[in-house]
Amino acid sequence: MRAVLISGDNSMPAVSVTEVDPNILEGDVLVDVHFAGINFKDSLVTRPNNKVARITPLIGGVDLAGTVLSDSTGTYEPGAAVLGTGHGIGTSWHGGFAERARLPVGWVSPLPAGLDQRAAMILGTAGWTAMASLLELERSGLVPSDGPLLVTGAAGGVGSTAVALAAAAGFDVAASSGRAQEADFLHQLGAQRVIGRDEIGDASPRVLGEERWAGAIDCVGGETLTQIIRSLRYGGAVAASGMTGGDRFTSSIFPFIVRAVQLLGIDSVEVAPPKRHHVWQQLAQRFPPQLLDTILEREISLDDVPELLELIGSGQVRGRVIVEIT
Ligand SMILES: NC(=O)c1ccc[n+]([C@@H]2O[C@H](COP(=O)([O-])OP(=O)(O)OC[C@H]3O[C@@H](n4cnc5c(N)ncnc54)[C@H](OP(=O)(O)O)[C@@H]3O)[C@@H](O)[C@H]2O)c1
Repeated sequence: MRAVLISGDNSMPAVSVTEVDPNILEGDVLVDVHFAGINFKDSLVTRPNNKVARITPLIGGVDLAGTVLSDSTGTYEPGAAVLGTGHGIGTSWHGGFAERARLPVGWVSPLPAGLDQRAAMILGTAGWTAMASLLELERSGLVPSDGPLLVTGAAGGVGSTAVALAAAAGFDVAASSGRAQEADFLHQLGAQRVIGRDEIGDASPRVLGEERWAGAIDCVGGETLTQIIRSLRYGGAVAASGMTGGDRFTSSIFPFIVRAVQLLGIDSVEVAPPKRHHVWQQLAQRFPPQLLDTILEREISLDDVPELLELIGSGQVRGRVIVEIT
């Protein structure tokens, strides 16, 4: 079968599109892969000295959608449409950039009603993470009348799907992006305002900044998260999922004990199957279907994956990219 293989030593991984013996695959459920999605993490496994890839060689691809060919546990009938996202897929287990995949049955999700395989991969783990972030904010008590909701990294995968989901839920969305040229795209998704990366907090050196945001969906981390925490309104919350801007942030205790703000961590990897399925169902019901093609930047073949991994790794992908496999 054809696959995108990441091979060689972790200090200098090599990416190639090549023929691979399907017998290297292990797992209960054999899937005929139709679509895969490209995520930031797919680029991380190709970086020298990364701590994300756990096996070599590795078939990349953290997201896949396809139909079941066989299931040794009897859970899924042949022909069932399924998704594989999260767990070790594409990092410690061969992933979705291939014509076939085999997965442990617990890592497989049924395709949620309302999405076909292509739509599910347009949303992918990025969309799942955006949905999980909004659900956590809502669980914290956030409602649209509380005030503006900030989305960071807004032109990327998590960010663009978060803008669309939050706007559809009635929030006044401020989209923060380093790419001013994507303002029209972000307004199309429902953003009321587009601001720069450095306009999240005020410039004062005080530990507490001006109260700006009722809530925030942040996939950037680093200094961005530092600024968000000191700029949340009283009782506000930030759902934090990523680190494209850095894996360290600083805070004093004051936003937490003076303004009762909440920092909510979002994980799409180890989350238990019932919650994973619930978030997928919510995403299928709440993402505006007319915006699927707006967030899709392009649809590529396996041959184009190596180039796209470089682009997403350097923040140059707008919205989402999917791979049509068969
Ligand atoms: N917790 C989880 O389970 C989970 C799940 C999915 C993703 N993630 C993480 O979430 C992050 C985003 O993933 P993604 O798939 O959305 O990636 P993506 O499509 O590449 O989008 C990331 C966005 O971050 C912004 N960005 C990039 N470099 C930056 C920098 N140096 N400083 C500030 N902003 C920067 C850019 O947005 P603008 O150009 O608009 O500024 C970029 O489009 C990644 O760190 C990923 O690992 C975590």
